[in-house]
Amino acid sequence: MSNTHFGFETVDESQKARRVRGVFDSVAPKYDVMNDLMSAGLHRVWKAYTVGVANLKSTDRVLDIAGGTGDLARAFAKVVGSRGMVVHTDINEAMLREGRDRLINEGLVLPTLLCDAESLPFQSGCFDMVSVAFGLRNMTHKDQALAEMCRVLRPGGRLLVLEFSKVAQPLEKLYDFYSFKVLPRLGQWVAGDADSYRYLAESIRMHPGQAELKAMMKTAGFGHVDVHNLSAGVVALHVGIKC
Ligand SMILES: C[S@@+](CC[C@H](N)C(=O)[O-])C[C@H]1O[C@@H](n2cnc3c(N)ncnc32)[C@H](O)[C@@H]1O
Repeated sequence: MSNTHFGFETVDESQKARRVRGVFDSVAPKYDVMNDLMSAGLHRVWKAYTVGVANLKSTDRVLDIAGGTGDLARAFAKVVGSRGMVVHTDINEAMLREGRDRLINEGLVLPTLLCDAESLPFQSGCFDMVSVAFGLRNMTHKDQALAEMCRVLRPGGRLLVLEFSKVAQPLEKLYDFYSFKVLPRLGQWVAGDADSYRYLAESIRMHPGQAELKAMMKTAGFGHVDVHNLSAGVVALHVGIKC
């Protein structure tokens, strides 16, 4: 067995998915309110930017991986309407349920599926676009997950990876202070869970930066990859084309 990271901890690979599940089981009920608080609403801007870059057609078939409470799936579904299709997926039942309930409350009934990004239960080439927002960081075998995302795309299809990334150097100290001193306290105060938000800060630091993720996407089969830095690199949107 090999080792991997769970935040700053080194753990056996077989343990990571269980530990990540623990985090999202714990945060699911407060996930949306914490997202707004932690990012001062900026996650909405990053996601709106992603929807703009996606530039979907009404007939597009879209797979949203690690879709959680459904922000991207909902926005994509509104663009494609009834002629296209958006599949909302996640590995975590608590997150998926929160998302599905929220979508239904807003009058949207989407195909919703519990599945692991590292082993997708779809035929090759059946989607026009795949998205994964703030999910890749949590996966044990990111290379395998990216290869799976590439496999299920049609030739010419696009993968959009929205994820925390490496912040511009002048902001590093401030960002570290916020991440390691403020975030866990906010997590404790609002969700009664400091550890999950400490994991969030640590997992961001362990995640590949802009250039490394671009190289990983190319290795996974994306012939062309563009990187969009958002908020000084706090977040990056990687757009890969299967070609
Ligand atoms: C931070 S949440 C992001 C949710 C949503 N995409 C958003 O942007 O608000 C990360 C999600 O990744 C999911 N996840 C982690 N590992 C996964 C895997 N191997 N396959 C699919 N989803 C996974 C978690 O269950 C969790 O819902």
